[in-house]
Amino acid sequence: MLLEEALALLAPVPGGTYVDATLGGGGHARAILERTSPSGRCIGFDADPEALAEASRRLRPAGERFVAVHANFNALEAELARLSVERIDGILFDLGVSSHQLDEPTRGFSFRFDEPLDMRMDRRQHLDAAQVVNTYDLGELAQILRRFGEERYAGLIARSIVQHRARHRFTTTGDLASVIKRALGKAAGVKSLARVFQAIRIEVNNELESLTEALEQAIQLTRGGGRIVVISYHSLEDRIVKEAFREASRTTRRHATGLLPDTPLRPLVRILTRKPVGASPQEVKRNPRARSAKMRAVERL
Ligand SMILES: C[S@@+](CC[C@H](N)C(=O)[O-])C[C@H]1O[C@@H](n2cnc3c(N)ncnc32)[C@H](O)[C@@H]1O
Repeated sequence: MLLEEALALLAPVPGGTYVDATLGGGGHARAILERTSPSGRCIGFDADPEALAEASRRLRPAGERFVAVHANFNALEAELARLSVERIDGILFDLGVSSHQLDEPTRGFSFRFDEPLDMRMDRRQHLDAAQVVNTYDLGELAQILRRFGEERYAGLIARSIVQHRARHRFTTTGDLASVIKRALGKAAGVKSLARVFQAIRIEVNNELESLTEALEQAIQLTRGGGRIVVISYHSLEDRIVKEAFREASRTTRRHATGLLPDTPLRPLVRILTRKPVGASPQEVKRNPRARSAKMRAVERL
């Protein structure tokens, strides 16, 4: 998504070393490889081994210029150290799940199919969606739905989940969708289902914490003049990105008492997008999911 816009902000240069932190189908990585030709490198991370295998197959023509890493992007620093890469020229994050993952009936990300309640990007991990809905207590469930789904009926839905599972363990996305629909009655719609599913997915994959950790590492690892570009689809993600960039761009530290003068700080980045960049109307028409995309970028100083 936002392919041209992201590339314009990342501004890859021939011979540079770039990270695509969310490889997915490899669309952005391919464009990075094209623009860094003939000797530039792209290191592609994905937590999902199936996405990684498919993207690696597509990017095979790039040979050794493309390196695939099966890891959460919060392991950025450790994985680059393993590859003996000390500094990078830029990094791109295109967050969330891919259309392929949403459309794949065995992954449990979508309420459109009746599939096992899974939602793990990386199936090596233990925690899955079934475990969240079958074992988290009422308070935890309500908080997840409220915080990650911004769902106004969080308490009501959480109570219905707890009541239902006292009789039947949840095993499929269909079970969960029908309990949400029954709880909300007339208020039930695709948007409520989407909010609840999204909230559980964020919890299963620990998405917000991973993002916070990865941004900190990305800022440290990018060399002067290099760019960090993040496309998010959720207001909480966008807030994390905005805050991390603002913090790294600060030039002064204010004293809590207000009695002492501000201390000058050396800013780490310069903000390139005062306001987040959204998808063009043409892209939204082609792909409605692009409507919620927000892109922010900084340049490392
Ligand atoms: C929106 S898709 C990326 C699409 C990609 N830019 C393209 O051009 O096809 C997001 C991908 O990032 C992966 N992903 C999401 N969060 C991740 C994380 N914390 N660590 C590693 N991969 C992650 C998902 O598995 C998914 O394949």
